Amino acid sequence: MDSMIKLHDLQFVPFIAENEIQTAIDSVADRLNKDLSDKNPLFIGVLNGAFMFVSEVVKRFKFDCEVSFIKLASYQGTETTNQVNKLIGLDRDISGRTVVVLEDIVDTGNTITALSEVFKDQGCEDVKIATLFFKPEAYTKKIKIDYFGIEIPNKFIVGYGLDYNGLGRNLTDVYQLKSSYNMTNLVLFGPPGAGKGTQAEVLKQKYDLVHISTGDVFRYNIKNATELGTLAKSYIDKGQLVPDEVTINMLNAEVDKNPQAQGFIFDGFPRTEAQAASLQELLTSKGSEVSAMVALEVDDEVLVQRLLERGKTSGRPDDADEGVIRNRIKVYYDETAILKNYYQKQHKYFGVDGVGGIDEITDRLSAVIDEL
Ligand code: IMP
Ligand code: MG
Repeated sequence: MDSMIKLHDLQFVPFIAENEIQTAIDSVADRLNKDLSDKNPLFIGVLNGAFMFVSEVVKRFKFDCEVSFIKLASYQGTETTNQVNKLIGLDRDISGRTVVVLEDIVDTGNTITALSEVFKDQGCEDVKIATLFFKPEAYTKKIKIDYFGIEIPNKFIVGYGLDYNGLGRNLTDVYQLKSSYNMTNLVLFGPPGAGKGTQAEVLKQKYDLVHISTGDVFRYNIKNATELGTLAKSYIDKGQLVPDEVTINMLNAEVDKNPQAQGFIFDGFPRTEAQAASLQELLTSKGSEVSAMVALEVDDEVLVQRLLERGKTSGRPDDADEGVIRNRIKVYYDETAILKNYYQKQHKYFGVDGVGGIDEITDRLSAVIDEL
């Protein structure tokens, strides 16, 4: 199991190999043999997902037992619907019995909680829960999971009975959703005059990315007097720096506004290592990550000449004075050095020669992006 697979529209990557699953089932079965040898337990498998697990558990149970199946559904796609549907298939008297519910996976716990209530209502002596996989981070219920094979993080998985919209149940290894599927998240840097704005616009079109310029996000939130904008303004009005937390919350809202995005170009953020760490955290929470820091590199003398040239027509006062220009370039390098170092450690820093024609520079940037 060394390669990625595709089911419907989604990609999945190898996660748990069959031999690891077998070992986990051995251990569940050992405990069941120990605890229930004289109980003639009724194993009730929850269809469809549990069929493989039931078969493996029952093969290993060495004493009298019975096997039955029930069916219900609480899932659609990769999201729980928080709703347990009707129970079908319970065709025998279970009063006085020791019932072992066999589940493929316990996620929120809605299913097992509802089932165990039904079984207790019907006069079971004891209801035990045994599940192959358990997601403790997603679990919201109180009832005890008596036996579980493998704890997994809150990720969507397929294989070994588990499906994504019907597919994947036949896989004998388990795969997890490749969550950063197709996301290209760039942190774009370039000294003043390097043509960063122009390139951001081109890359945005070419790779279908959403360009998030922190300056624009601030202006938008302040102008529209959003809660965060008002908060940010209260700092700005006092001449204080807007705390990172406020900025990151704005970026978070911006990212959430574009759930279908192929990725983002971050422009103007992060500026410090702490901000870079916050950005990483934000993207991790979306199942993604920063793909690369891409920095346009242009020789200082070229920049100075370009900006002085621009100053003649733009009328921007900060483009007119050579001293001011040199200082802006210096500030840029002071800030960038920190982040260059931060992303270099993660092998995510890419410097790109920013001298040349627009198309030429786009080609150089594309060469980096296409390799990510
Ligand atoms: P719960 O009711 O939220 O605990 O979810 C239990 C049911 O949801 C399982 O029996 C599965 O059918 C389905 N399920 C939960 N997590 C996954 C998953 O990662 N992959 C496939 N199905 C899942
Ligand atoms: Mg199930």
